[in-house]
Amino acid sequence: MKSLYDETSIGSLKLRNRVFRAAIGDVDGTDGYYSETDLARYRELADGNIGLIITGEADVSDYQLFEGGKSISIQDDRYIDSLKRLTGMIHERGGKMMIQLVHYGAETFMQGVDLIAPSDVPYPFTKQKPRPMTLDDISRVVSDFGRAARRAEIAGFDGIELHAGHGFLISEFLSPCFNLRADQYGGNDENRARLLVEVLTEIRKNVSEDYPVFVKLNCTDGFENGISEQGFLTACRLAEKAGASLLEVSGDWLNHKEKTPYFLEATSKCAEELHIPVALVGGVRDINTAENVLNNTKIEYISMARPFINDPYLLKKWMSGEADKSDCRNCNACTRTGLKCPFRK
Ligand SMILES: Cc1cc2nc3c(=O)[nH]c(=O)nc-3n(C[C@H](O)[C@H](O)[C@H](O)COP(=O)(O)O)c2cc1C
Ligand code: SF4
Repeated sequence: MKSLYDETSIGSLKLRNRVFRAAIGDVDGTDGYYSETDLARYRELADGNIGLIITGEADVSDYQLFEGGKSISIQDDRYIDSLKRLTGMIHERGGKMMIQLVHYGAETFMQGVDLIAPSDVPYPFTKQKPRPMTLDDISRVVSDFGRAARRAEIAGFDGIELHAGHGFLISEFLSPCFNLRADQYGGNDENRARLLVEVLTEIRKNVSEDYPVFVKLNCTDGFENGISEQGFLTACRLAEKAGASLLEVSGDWLNHKEKTPYFLEATSKCAEELHIPVALVGGVRDINTAENVLNNTKIEYISMARPFINDPYLLKKWMSGEADKSDCRNCNACTRTGLKCPFRK
């Protein structure tokens, strides 16, 4: 029998339980650096006994998500000292932490930037028309991911998570509705996964041998002619081959309101096919569901985001028997209020 509270290892990474705090954008930064408000939020999470905390997206190059440098950056060595402060604080509290690396592609709200993407298809939420990437752009961005991964290891993160989901650059390449390319990066599932594979290969060259490298990707993106099940499974297989240590399977989570896991079927199928561990994210709200997933599928880890905005100490309460579910209502107010939950415990 698997339990949420089993100690496990992924390569060199030893985890105190099977629960991840899924990435949540860090919105209180200044010029791409963590602020005291961000650090205070992480202090609570570390004290809440979570097995692994994954930071919000950190951009590896070019531009951020919003104007004003409020999200986190890792595109230069000058960020390393501030990142070390964060990892030091988490480690002092017995926690483990990964940083999520991203290139925003066409999905940024910043104006007047040289927006790059696989093709000139505007991202529906941000609506700006990107410039199709040249082969030189692609090889530069691949190198940027490698350099960012090296900085993450120097800064003391226990691993990195490559963001290949949620409509950002790598997921735009994976998705036929954003990738209309006729070269070696488009036209079929293998070609659409080429950027993911090249980035993983470059990251592996820049970090220690068994440094954990997770990949978060979509099993569906909710758009007509978006990523297919076959495209998703091909990307998973190729990511495993290119050195991913774990896959966290996500999708169009904003389109869902259920209080049960949104992507269980696809995540379970992925876990059946792969040899590396797989994590479920999206809609997990109670212990029973989480432990049923662990015991009735090959899924090894449970990742939650909004339940820890609602209550950073939720897992501690689950472990002590004080609670057995999350009170998160899936209302998404926290996506508009700088991570403040009106129903916070
Ligand atoms: C405010 C907010 C910010 C988020 N930021 C990120 C992010 O930076 N990177 C990411 O991969 N997912 C991000 N997500 C998505 C979550 O990681 C997770 O996939 C999604 O919320 C579904 O999980 P849940 O039902 O447990 O909340 C964010 C979600 C919320 C609510
Ligand atoms: S604001 Fe809504 S979605 Fe966000 S954590 Fe609170 S209850 Fe959950």
